[in-house]
Amino acid sequence: MKRILALASGRGSNFQALCDASKKGILRADIVGLGVSRLGTGAAQIAMSAGIPVLIQPSDQAIIDFFREERVDALVLAGYMKILSSELIEALRGKDGHSRIVNIHPSLLPAFPGMNAYWQAYNAGVPETGVTVHLVEREVDTGPVLDQKSFRIDDLRSVEEVEARGLEIEHGLYARAIDRFINEGKLDVTRTH
Ligand code: GRF
Repeated sequence: MKRILALASGRGSNFQALCDASKKGILRADIVGLGVSRLGTGAAQIAMSAGIPVLIQPSDQAIIDFFREERVDALVLAGYMKILSSELIEALRGKDGHSRIVNIHPSLLPAFPGMNAYWQAYNAGVPETGVTVHLVEREVDTGPVLDQKSFRIDDLRSVEEVEARGLEIEHGLYARAIDRFINEGKLDVTRTH
C-alpha cells in the first residue's frame, strides 16, 4: 500500500474527502500524516479524530525527514497556504525526475492562478471554470497536469454557488488523480502548462 503525507491549512474538506476515499479503497494509499500551518483548523481536527499523526508548522527538514523515515510516496497539498521552497521540491523529487508533490487548484490552469480562483472566474464572467490536479514545480500553480474537470458557471448566481459546485468536483477528482499517479504512474509529461 502506498503512503501519503498531506499538508493543509484550512477547513479541510479535501483532506476529509481523501481520508474517506482511502477508507473506501478509491484512493489505494494510507494517509500516514498531516502537516498543518497552525492547530485548531478543520483539517487538524479531522486528522486527530482519525488518529492520523499531526505535524504542526513542520519545517522543510521535518517534512523531508518524515518523508524518508515513514517511506512516503507522495506529498499531497490540500489547501496549504504556504509556498513550498525549491529545496523541498528538489529533495522529494522522484528518481524518474518528476515532482512527487501533488496540488489541487480551483480553476482550469493556466487560467486564474493564485488566490480566490473561484471568485476570479466568477468576476471575470467566463461561462465555465474548473478544477486542476497538478504536480508542484518551482513556479506556483504550474507543473504537469494530472487531471482537469470543467463545469459551467453562467447559470450560477453567486460565488458561493460556484465554490459549492467546484468543491463537489474537487472531492471526487482529487482522490482519483492521486490514485492513478501513485499506483499506475499515469503521467503525460508532454502536457505541461
Ligand atoms: C480548495 O478550493 C482547493 O482547491 C484550494 O484550497 C481550497 C481548500 O479547501 N487549493 P478545503 O480546506 O479542502 O475545504
